[in-house]
Amino acid sequence: MQELHPRLKAAAAMVPPGSTVADIGTDHAYLPAYLLLNGVCPRAIACDIGEKPLQNAAETVKIYHLDGKIDLRVSDGLEKVSPEEYNAATICGMGGTLIAQILEKADLPADVRLILQPMTHAEDVRMWLCGHGFAIGREVCVADAGRVYCCMVAARGDDPRKDEPGYWYFGSLSGETAEERAMIRKTYDRVKTRADALAEAYRYPEEQALLRQVLTYYEQHYDNYRKRRL
Ligand SMILES: C[S@@+](CC[C@H](N)C(=O)[O-])C[C@H]1O[C@@H](n2cnc3c(N)ncnc32)[C@H](O)[C@@H]1O
Repeated sequence: MQELHPRLKAAAAMVPPGSTVADIGTDHAYLPAYLLLNGVCPRAIACDIGEKPLQNAAETVKIYHLDGKIDLRVSDGLEKVSPEEYNAATICGMGGTLIAQILEKADLPADVRLILQPMTHAEDVRMWLCGHGFAIGREVCVADAGRVYCCMVAARGDDPRKDEPGYWYFGSLSGETAEERAMIRKTYDRVKTRADALAEAYRYPEEQALLRQVLTYYEQHYDNYRKRRL
């Protein structure tokens, strides 16, 4: 099959071998098709809220002879998937706010592994996970079509850093790779711009206080990058 986007490849690498995956917002079903064709998963459920994306998915299923192995469903989030049917969920290529809303509405299995790749606002995803008894495991940043994205995997557990606002925004990124440094810088610029705008307008004091904590966290953890403007 054609090469997956690097951000989807990063997600695929986090799917536990042998799991049954529910791919939410599947569009062309490239991710579940890749998982099946590479022997990672024996079967998958590919869901999308739109009929047209599911037609795209049906085309992929047909091309790669995956009938009977990928179950296609029109579903808002995980609404049409029962918890007994899957033990890993992938939600990729959507905004972080929408991913958090989908998780909020879902009846997730006890042993579920969540593989999440937000296009924006990753902090909403981390905040949801931290506030709902999930611990974030591995996190990677990848460059894809001139932008950087993060992808994370989470399972139920107590995340020791769940109460740190800086962690919600920067995750466990250390800045070791160029992609991580780009993501750290991008997040810092976004937080700084928002914090400055709110301060200037004397608006939302609680959000301002939170963003100031995030900026302090950045200075404490990534000061070298700030000085060198990497
Ligand atoms: C940009 S595409 C991402 C496709 C693929 N997952 C990827 O990462 O390349 C986003 C898909 O999410 C679907 N979507 C948006 N909101 C959804 C929801 N609440 N439940 C299920 N699918 C949704 C859209 O119809 C669209 O096909």
